[in-house]
Amino acid sequence: MNPFSVSAPGRRSTALIGAIFLALSISAPSARADGGALFQANCAGCHGADGRAEGPMAKAMKVPALSGTKLDEAGIAKHVRDNKSHAAISGTLSEDDLKSVAAYAKGL
Ligand code: HEC
Repeated sequence: MNPFSVSAPGRRSTALIGAIFLALSISAPSARADGGALFQANCAGCHGADGRAEGPMAKAMKVPALSGTKLDEAGIAKHVRDNKSHAAISGTLSEDDLKSVAAYAKGL
């Protein structure tokens, strides 16, 4: 059965919202994979725009600098996925996003 033929009101708007998200993700693939933009949006608030963790938030929360971290890219991605300090953001990042942002962070 075609799922789009169901006419319950809730289902129809869910399908519409899904279609909008699909359209957005198809039209902006490079924006999602941009590690630098992801870093500024998700990490800079705590780790600093340059990853040196010198801002007031970083000091207050004892955030470590990312520049010069001993972790490799996979280790950075795993840390963001598993460490409780990152619980608020890890769920919002896809595996691809994590890879790009980890590669960017490693280069800081
Ligand atoms: C809410 C503040 C916050 C945000 C946002 C945040 N971090 Fe962190 N990060 C921390 C804190 C606090 C620690 C130290 C936690 C620990 O080691 O137990 C940490 C530790 C790390 C470490 C371990 C560094 C090392 O050398 O041990 C990595 C890697 C890291 N963060 C990467 C990221 C990346 C990449 C992002 C963005 C996707 C990010 N963090 C966003 C607070 C934050």
